[in-house]
Amino acid sequence: MTMPIDTHLITRRSIAEQIEELGQFRIAIFRDWPYLYDGNMPYERDYLSRYARCESSFVLVGRDAHGIRYACTAIPLKHELPQFQQSFLERQIPVDNKFYLGEIMVRRELRGQGMGRLLMNKALSTIAELNHPSAEVVLATVIRPSTHPLKPADYNASDHLWTKSGFARRDDLVMTLDWKDIDQERETTKEMVYWLRK
Ligand SMILES: CC(C)(COP(=O)(O)OP(=O)(O)OC[C@H]1O[C@@H](n2cnc3c(N)ncnc32)[C@H](O)[C@@H]1OP(=O)(O)O)[C@@H](O)C(=O)NCCC(=O)NCCS
Repeated sequence: MTMPIDTHLITRRSIAEQIEELGQFRIAIFRDWPYLYDGNMPYERDYLSRYARCESSFVLVGRDAHGIRYACTAIPLKHELPQFQQSFLERQIPVDNKFYLGEIMVRRELRGQGMGRLLMNKALSTIAELNHPSAEVVLATVIRPSTHPLKPADYNASDHLWTKSGFARRDDLVMTLDWKDIDQERETTKEMVYWLRK
C-alpha cells in the first residue's frame, strides 16, 4: 500500500496539552481483547505525564472530524518506570540504547487497511530521525490464556504486524503490570512479553 499517513508529531508540551484526549483514546482502544482494560483518567494522566516530562519521547497522532484516528507513543526505555526495565537489567541487557513503543493504536473501524503498518513505519523512522539511529526498538504485548472466556472466537493476534516490522518475541523478557479488567472487581497482575527489533 502506498498511501501516505497523515500524522502530527507531538512532543513534551503538546503531549501535556493533549493528555485528556490521548487518555480517552487509550481507554477506548484497550477496552477490547486482549487488554480488557477498564481504564480511568487518573491512571492515564499519570502514565502519559511520563511522556510529557521526557524530552526524547514523542507521540504520533492522526485525526479527523471524529477525533483521533490513530496514535503511537514512544519513549526511551530508561525513562519508563523501573518495572519496565527490570527484566532487561536482570539479564545484563542494556536499556540505554532501547526505545520503547508504548502503544500503537488504530481506531476500530479503520483497521485492516494498512494504517497500523504505516504508523509503525513512521514511528521507526521518527525514532531514527530524532537522533537515535542505533536505538533498538522494543514493545510489549499482554499474555492471556487462549481459554479466556472473553477471547473473541475470530480474534487474530497482531503478532503478524510485529514480525513483519522486524520484531522478534523474547519470552525470557517479561514484565508485570496491574490494571482492572472489564470483568473483574479489582486490579489483577498481567504479564507483558517484550518484542525486540535490532
Ligand atoms: C494492532 C493494530 C494497530 C493494527 O492496525 P491495523 O491498521 O489493523 O494494521 P494493518 O492493517 O496495517 O495490518 C498490518 C499487518 O497485520 C495484518 N493484520 C492486521 N490485523 C490482523 C488481524 N486481525 N489478523 C491477522 N492479520 C492482521 C495485516 O494483514 C497486515 O499484514 P500485511 O502487511 O502482510 O498485509 C490495530 O489492530 C489496533 O489498534 N489494535 C488495538 C490496539 C493494540 O492492540 N495495539 C497493539 C499493542 S500496543
